[in-house]
Amino acid sequence: MKLLTLSTAAAVGLSSIVQGGSVVHERRDQVPAEWTKISRAVPDAAIELRIGLKQSNLEHAEDLANQISHPMSEKYGKFLTAQQVIDLFAAPQEVISETVQWLRQGGINSKHIKPTAGRNWLKFNTTVAVAEKLLDTTYYTYRNEEQGVEVVACESYSVPEDIQPNIDLIMPTIQFETRGRPASSRGINRRDTFKPKFRKLESIPHPSSLANCSQITTPACLRALYGLPDAGEAVEGNSYGIVEFAPQSFNQDDLNAFYAKYASNVPNNTGPIIDGIDGGYFSNDSSADTRGESNLDLCYAIGLVHPQPVTLYQVGDNDPANPATNNNFLDAIDGSYCTYQGGDDPDWDGIYPHDGEVSGEYLGQPDCGTYNATKVFSVSYGSNEGDRPISYRTRECNEYMKLALMGVTVLFSSGDDGVAGIRSTCLLPNGALTPPAADYGRFNPMWPGTCPWITSVGGSALPENGTVNDKQVAATDFGSGGGFSNIFALPSYQTKAVAEYYANHDPGYNSSVYNNTQQVRGFPDLAVTSHSFITGLAGDLVAFSGTSAASPSFGAMITFINGERIKNGKGSVGFLNPVLYSHPEVFDDITEGVNPGCGTDGFPAVEGWDPITGLGTPNFAKLRDLLLSLP
Ligand SMILES: *[C@@H]1O[C@H](CO)[C@@H](O)[C@H](O)[C@H]1NC(C)=O
Ligand SMILES: *[C@@H]1O[C@H](CO)[C@@H](O)[C@H](O)[C@H]1NC(C)=O
Ligand SMILES: *[C@@H]1O[C@H](CO)[C@@H](O)[C@H](O)[C@H]1NC(C)=O
Ligand SMILES: *[C@@H]1O[C@H](CO)[C@@H](O)[C@H](O)[C@H]1NC(C)=O
Ligand SMILES: *[C@@H]1O[C@H](CO)[C@@H](O)[C@H](O)[C@H]1NC(C)=O
Ligand SMILES: *[C@@H]1O[C@H](CO)[C@@H](O)[C@H](O)[C@H]1NC(C)=O
Ligand SMILES: *[C@@H]1O[C@H](CO)[C@@H](O)[C@H](O)[C@H]1NC(C)=O
Ligand SMILES: *[C@@H]1O[C@H](CO)[C@@H](O)[C@H](O)[C@H]1NC(C)=O
Repeated sequence: MKLLTLSTAAAVGLSSIVQGGSVVHERRDQVPAEWTKISRAVPDAAIELRIGLKQSNLEHAEDLANQISHPMSEKYGKFLTAQQVIDLFAAPQEVISETVQWLRQGGINSKHIKPTAGRNWLKFNTTVAVAEKLLDTTYYTYRNEEQGVEVVACESYSVPEDIQPNIDLIMPTIQFETRGRPASSRGINRRDTFKPKFRKLESIPHPSSLANCSQITTPACLRALYGLPDAGEAVEGNSYGIVEFAPQSFNQDDLNAFYAKYASNVPNNTGPIIDGIDGGYFSNDSSADTRGESNLDLCYAIGLVHPQPVTLYQVGDNDPANPATNNNFLDAIDGSYCTYQGGDDPDWDGIYPHDGEVSGEYLGQPDCGTYNATKVFSVSYGSNEGDRPISYRTRECNEYMKLALMGVTVLFSSGDDGVAGIRSTCLLPNGALTPPAADYGRFNPMWPGTCPWITSVGGSALPENGTVNDKQVAATDFGSGGGFSNIFALPSYQTKAVAEYYANHDPGYNSSVYNNTQQVRGFPDLAVTSHSFITGLAGDLVAFSGTSAASPSFGAMITFINGERIKNGKGSVGFLNPVLYSHPEVFDDITEGVNPGCGTDGFPAVEGWDPITGLGTPNFAKLRDLLLSLP
């Protein structure tokens, strides 16, 4: 009797699914440029389907992360442990059983359905024909001529309406993933660095006085500009991390040359603590392209906070065809992320071990929870938000939210191409990129500035011939990265700032230029001077300009403040944005400058928050007093 009742219930479920119809779950507007559709996939071909289950606590977790980071909340600063975060996110049993039931009705033997350890992913083997019926789609074989590989993929797929809330994404579908193809054939240039603009200083004698801070930035200039202490202090429990992606590599001799002239409080041969991830490769190439970013970041992180140790997360090996990404770094500092939603994406992320075809490749297991996150970390790398599927961006952004729950401050440079993307590319109406340096197209927002759970640091500068006491302007020798997301909704902490921006300074572009609905995340959150930072390089001292300089400098400020908080028996400051937007008075507003791109002047800096310099440039004394006053 009971059995009969059960199967009747199942049959009712089935008919309601059929009647309810299916809804398109994910769709691609176009096939990625390098792929060509060849033919229908063979119906009998085997396919391993993976179903990423919705993390039903996501809204709840977002709420919690907001409260933990909001200065007016009773929960402010009450961070969760890594284990508490894992428990918060595991998919509930009913989500798993409902999804399994749908699969069984679609003809999948439930014995073959395997959940992953994190209980957020179901996997099973089937055929293309069964998968097509299940997902109401058509699979094709696509070929990438350049790489000589083929994948089975589709351009859209559907799931039953009542099952959709359970499902995040299904693979392989629209991702054009290439799991299992030889590493050596994978695409290159999948990760872009904000290459800081570089100029040699041969013609200019190296300045040593504050009178030259509008031309050349030194640690002394930053101290004078922001009222920073003359040196840091090593505080037990405090930490500061800089993230670099191989083959970008710092050079100790270059740091030494910098300390000798511009950071005399730092002893010769002071280096970072090195946390090597997925190979943690260092190159000996001495060009600005290889050394510039790492040297710049470490000169200023160490030069400002010493004797507080600085940790270098050196991410990835020597395989330019399969470089490491933010996700590989995040796996190493949070073991639960390694399998979250099925783990990293072989199409974009470093997948280890590598095959050893190139010397210096990493042959070990991927780093997963190997290191603790530092209280603050700064990353001066980025890509175009639109370069990856929305599901990929959302997964990574969720991880920054988890780091917020755990009390980690995540800082990223906002980009150096104004409202345009990497190499000044813009977006065509269908989402594809224009050629570099385009003077047309939609604005191309930078990743991860558009993720609401990070603090995006833009660029400012002193006015030409200005003194350290002058009001700063938006970056002048490049466009401070800024704009609005095409993916992420307006976070609550930014509602007021964005509404005021539009009410008083609507830039007047229509929806064909960018998402001007006032309902999306705007970036950056703040700005720090980014002009001509003197840096050691291959026996010389050179100058780099770019938001690459701003983020590590702001990280140093937060590290000073965390040290004082820890000495006062408090915790680290964690995710900063809700505090910063609640207290715009701790910033010196920037009201001059633009961030041009895509044939426009971009956004002008105006009174209040703006998508070029954010809330302005920090007034360190006020910021410190504010953050020290919080529980
Ligand atoms: C699917 O089949 C492949 C090849 O036989 C096997 O490696 C994989 O573990 C199977 N996956 C599942 C979920 O059973
Ligand atoms: C430094 O500033 C002084 C005074 O403005 C100027 O005369 C000198 O040329 C500057 N030096 C450099 C290296 O720019
Ligand atoms: C710093 O140390 C290196 C070797 O470790 C040495 O060659 C160099 O002379 C030292 N520099 C100073 C300023 O002491
Ligand atoms: C770089 O140089 C150091 C010192 O000579 C050496 O130990 C190291 O193996 C070199 N690294 C590479 C990748 O060649
Ligand atoms: C991470 O932090 C915990 C708690 O402070 C400590 O016990 C552990 O040793 C640390 N792990 C690493 C790899 O540093
Ligand atoms: C800055 O100083 C240089 C050299 O003295 C001068 O040529 C230039 O006009 C000045 N710029 C401004 C904006 O005052
Ligand atoms: C702009 O963003 C809003 C809010 O996320 C979204 O509903 C809308 O579809 C977006 N508009 C365009 C044109 O992408
Ligand atoms: C946006 O403005 C441009 C000219 O500035 C115009 O050509 C275009 O039709 C407008 N688009 C919309 C959607 O209003």
